[in-house]
Amino acid sequence: MTNLNIRTEQPEDTEKVAELLYHAFGDRDDESLLVSNIRVSAGFIPELSVVAELHGEIIGHILLSKAEVVNEGGRDEVIALAPLAVSPKHQKQGVGKLLMQEGLKRCQNLGYPLVLLIGHPEYYPKFGFKPARPFGMELKQFAVPDDVFMVCELQEGALGRIQGELVYPEVFL
Ligand SMILES: CC(C)(COP(=O)(O)OP(=O)(O)OC[C@H]1O[C@@H](n2cnc3c(N)ncnc32)[C@H](O)[C@@H]1OP(=O)(O)O)[C@@H](O)C(=O)NCCC(=O)NCCS
Repeated sequence: MTNLNIRTEQPEDTEKVAELLYHAFGDRDDESLLVSNIRVSAGFIPELSVVAELHGEIIGHILLSKAEVVNEGGRDEVIALAPLAVSPKHQKQGVGKLLMQEGLKRCQNLGYPLVLLIGHPEYYPKFGFKPARPFGMELKQFAVPDDVFMVCELQEGALGRIQGELVYPEVFL
């Protein structure tokens, strides 16, 4: 898609991002509320809120923010991906893919070892995500099937080295 600009979200994008999330998730505001709450939380990393802009319109958004993997020995900081959205009329044209690639690259450049998510099991494996539980990850805060709880390794050896319960910050609950 020519003229598509993938860039960091700016304060003036807030309303357009909320609108996009509302429509992309079937006319409900749960996700825009989640994003508003993450933005003002300790886990927010401004450069990990990324938008896709086409002719001045925000047509896609990805948010990656801090979470922890906790075990008896301690805790590791990781990244949780949520949400990812592309406006209904621009879906299946590669926008989500560009946002995913940019988001994961930014997380890697910032030195994060793993990205975890709960999401479509047919979509995220394209970007290197695998079911997390076989790698020693647990999720207790949300009761979800094994195949939707996924992890992507950004640092070689991080999968296996980091094991325990993925704990989402309070704003996700
Ligand atoms: C899921 C979503 C972000 C995908 O964005 P998109 O821009 O339509 O996806 P892309 O065009 O980049 O698709 C990349 C690839 O995934 C495939 N794909 C797209 N949506 C898919 C889906 N829901 N399930 C499986 N595969 C999918 C595409 O065919 C494409 O495959 P290819 O690379 O082999 O050609 C978008 O459909 C969306 O916003 N959906 C509503 C909100 C939502 O469900 N968000 C995710 C929450 S987990």
